[in-house]
Amino acid sequence: MAANIEQEIRELREQIHFHNYRYYVLDDPEITDAEYDRLMRRLEELEAEHPELVTPDSPTQRVGAEPAEEFDTVRHAVPMLSLNNAMNEEEVEDRFFRPVREALGGEVELVAEPKLDGLAVELTYENGVLTTGSTRGDGTTGEDVTHNIRTIRAVPQRLLERERKAPSLLDTRGEVYIEKQRFEELNRQQAEAGEKEFANPRNAAAGSLRQLDPSVTAERPLGIFFYGVGRVEGADVTDQAGLLDFLRSLGLRTVRPWRLCRSFDEAIEFYRELMADRDGLPYEIDGVVLKVNRFDYQQQLGVRSRNPRYAIACKFPPRRETTRLRDITVQVGRTGALTPVAELEPVRVGGVEVARATLHNADEIARKDVRIGDTVIVQRAGDVIPEVVAPVEANRTGNEDRFEMPDQCPVCDGPVERERRPDRVYYWCRERDCDEFLKRHSNKALPDSCRGCGGPVEEISGGSVLFCTSIACPARLKGAIDIFASKRGMDIDGLGTKLIDQIVDGGLVKDPADLYRLEQDDWANLERMGEKSADNLIDALDASKSRPLRRVLVALGIRNVGEHVAEVLADHFGSIDAIMGASTDELEQVAEIGPIVARSIADFFDNDANRKVVERLKDEGIQALTEEAESAEEPAGDRFKGTTFVFTGSLESMTRSEAGEKVKNLGGRATSSVSSKTDYVVAGPGAGSKRDKAEQLGIRILSENEFLDMCEQ
Ligand code: IVH
Repeated sequence: MAANIEQEIRELREQIHFHNYRYYVLDDPEITDAEYDRLMRRLEELEAEHPELVTPDSPTQRVGAEPAEEFDTVRHAVPMLSLNNAMNEEEVEDRFFRPVREALGGEVELVAEPKLDGLAVELTYENGVLTTGSTRGDGTTGEDVTHNIRTIRAVPQRLLERERKAPSLLDTRGEVYIEKQRFEELNRQQAEAGEKEFANPRNAAAGSLRQLDPSVTAERPLGIFFYGVGRVEGADVTDQAGLLDFLRSLGLRTVRPWRLCRSFDEAIEFYRELMADRDGLPYEIDGVVLKVNRFDYQQQLGVRSRNPRYAIACKFPPRRETTRLRDITVQVGRTGALTPVAELEPVRVGGVEVARATLHNADEIARKDVRIGDTVIVQRAGDVIPEVVAPVEANRTGNEDRFEMPDQCPVCDGPVERERRPDRVYYWCRERDCDEFLKRHSNKALPDSCRGCGGPVEEISGGSVLFCTSIACPARLKGAIDIFASKRGMDIDGLGTKLIDQIVDGGLVKDPADLYRLEQDDWANLERMGEKSADNLIDALDASKSRPLRRVLVALGIRNVGEHVAEVLADHFGSIDAIMGASTDELEQVAEIGPIVARSIADFFDNDANRKVVERLKDEGIQALTEEAESAEEPAGDRFKGTTFVFTGSLESMTRSEAGEKVKNLGGRATSSVSSKTDYVVAGPGAGSKRDKAEQLGIRILSENEFLDMCEQ
């Protein structure tokens, strides 16, 4: 009997494995969904009766793992490179065809594949069994998302060995993505559940794969296409076309449609065809990837600054339509940024109906001279949120209206502050515990993902942007509490984004000070909470009351005040009242506080709503706000009073931060950049530009020993 059952289980697994292959890899199912479900149910039944016969690679075992605390990191044995882009056919010629011809002495075969708009992953199969799945991360190390990868139905737990034996080791690479229609469904569900919608299928795929709880990932409609490899042991493949056939024969769903092109013209033909067909594909593609077919030629061409010279991504131009701009409204985002939004006569752009589009900021509206009533060109570049490109000036009647940004926050009526670095694009990582969480990044373009954690990023601004400054503004309250509770702020253990959403949506808190008023019942009645976790949260809130001033300053989320500036402020002023009372001029007098930062601080405390929150935090007993700075931070001497040091290069007897501590202990200051306010630069071996700058400014340069002598004197 048991032997029969074992046999039946084995056969069921084989059948399911094979039908998965027919369905996902060949796109040619042999049986109906109902028949497939019957096989699956029978297997589940038998495994339930005989748990001792369950194996980890059984098709029933996709969602087995417990939620993780965090992801481990995985080092890619062979780095995962990224591709150079070409934005049009001329660029393909200049950046790819010509250099390849020159290097190889003529045209060679190319493989053309769609460029999928998803998230790159690497899956490791050892002796045919899936052992690890990881994200690309920075190309060298990614996150271990094995449990989440397993939930993707098109991922075989075991390689198919019908045509050939599985290699002893295979790192295969591909793209996790979400089909367009499923993406729209997912966003509808997110909206219904009051969750944030995803900006594009790529972000949805990334967000889904980076869930700590695999059962959440399992609910997401993720698909996968394979197109490459890292390590391969025990198999011989010599070109890309052969590789795609090889992967497919192992039951891996390879990228499609692809073509082996005999000439460069044929590759361009494929690019044009796919561009024309792209709306017909169920998934979003943003271009075509061309790869030199033969691996020996690939090797010969080599890699230049992380981009292979044997491949290129030929991007498609964004899709555009014209429509009428009915009105411009202003939205306030979670960072407080005021974004003008175009309210459009609905129009279909690349198969998606568009009724609203971003206008980015007031400068952009002025630069493009977009007016209410204009006929405008709208474009969608993969994102759900389209943008207004330009007005069609020929269609003007003279009845169009110019638009001006409000000088108050449209949500809370509070004052707004102007971003003063118009040449930058800033982004904000959505992971609250990521190192990049509080930093804004200056870059000309929004990066694909956060440099700190590889997670999704949100653009805060491009150009001149207005920000609501009120910490209690309903539009940014969730973001404000997120910062308040973050590790670098009040470090309130257990108060995560989901919980914050619940307390804000439930109207339990109107500003961060309200957190300290909530009682055990309030917490315990929330989803996924009980008395125990409620008690823990109350303890965590109590513990947070003793955070030092510099941390409280970070927690307030004052624009341009990160950990370093907060420390400078706390050291210099010693109390929140002194900071609140300081004028812009007084703030600017402080070393390392420039006019932009000074203005942000003054703007923040000029705002009545913010002062009230600070007063209420004091009432709740936040110690740093009621007392002078802790005595532990009192300097041991004042030899360096009023003296500013910069350390550069490597030091022998201590680290740079230890050196900084020494300076602080003697009443001085250690800063990271050289300016006219710097008194000494201590330069160790390897010192570069800071030393040069010090020389230019005529600042005295000390060796480590000279510095140590000064400390001893
Ligand atoms: S090949 C050296 N093929 O594009 C080759 N990548 O910028 C590197 N991608 O991280 C990858 N479709 O996420 C390759 N058919 C395809 C692709 C593809 C999408 C993504 C992938 C990669 C990025 C490279």
